[in-house]
Amino acid sequence: MTADLAPPRYPELRDQTIVLVGLMGVGKSSVGRRLAQTLDLPFRDADNEVERAAGRGIPEIFAEMGEAAFRDGERRVIARLLEDPPHVLATGGGAFVNAETRALIKDKAIAVWLKADLELLARRVGRKDGRPLLKNRDPMDVLREQATTRYPAYGEAHLTVETGDTPHMVAVEAVIAALQGRLAAASASDAPAGDVSAASASERVQP
Ligand code: S3P
Repeated sequence: MTADLAPPRYPELRDQTIVLVGLMGVGKSSVGRRLAQTLDLPFRDADNEVERAAGRGIPEIFAEMGEAAFRDGERRVIARLLEDPPHVLATGGGAFVNAETRALIKDKAIAVWLKADLELLARRVGRKDGRPLLKNRDPMDVLREQATTRYPAYGEAHLTVETGDTPHMVAVEAVIAALQGRLAAASASDAPAGDVSAASASERVQP
């Protein structure tokens, strides 16, 4: 009861949509869902929204309509979601690689790259079916290729948060700390030179 009546924590982080980007298996959906709960924001999953729009699962979209149709749906769905009020949005691993989607996300939201060791990702995705790009492939080979082609795009995210083999809440706390650090740095750089409170704010974000 009391928790329901309590004001949302982190009000300063609820003004803008937060978009999680990164490779398959890094935890964009599971971290995103918990991040949304923690910030008391709605949660959206771009893959689920594409599935809903297409009336079928991702493996079927790839098999019956082709990857290009999936990418087109993904681009349109994300553009639509970015018009919604602030929320946490988990994207599929390829979404931020599309130049148009990337530009839109960077303009309308805060992009956070969740980054983890490729061996960890390979172990995680190897345990689960349903990712067409991994069909009949060694996950480590796919992830290595994707790291090469996609990291330059992911590197354009506003923030990068390294996650390890830890509970998802640890990643959530790290994302929150990174978002707060970004705000503190922005307000410090806005403040007039010699502003003591701004100087101490910027010191707080130093590792
Ligand atoms: C893809 C990742 C998947 C899904 C689709 C394509 C990719 O999402 O969008 O299978 O290109 O990396 P996750 O990153 O949530 O696995």
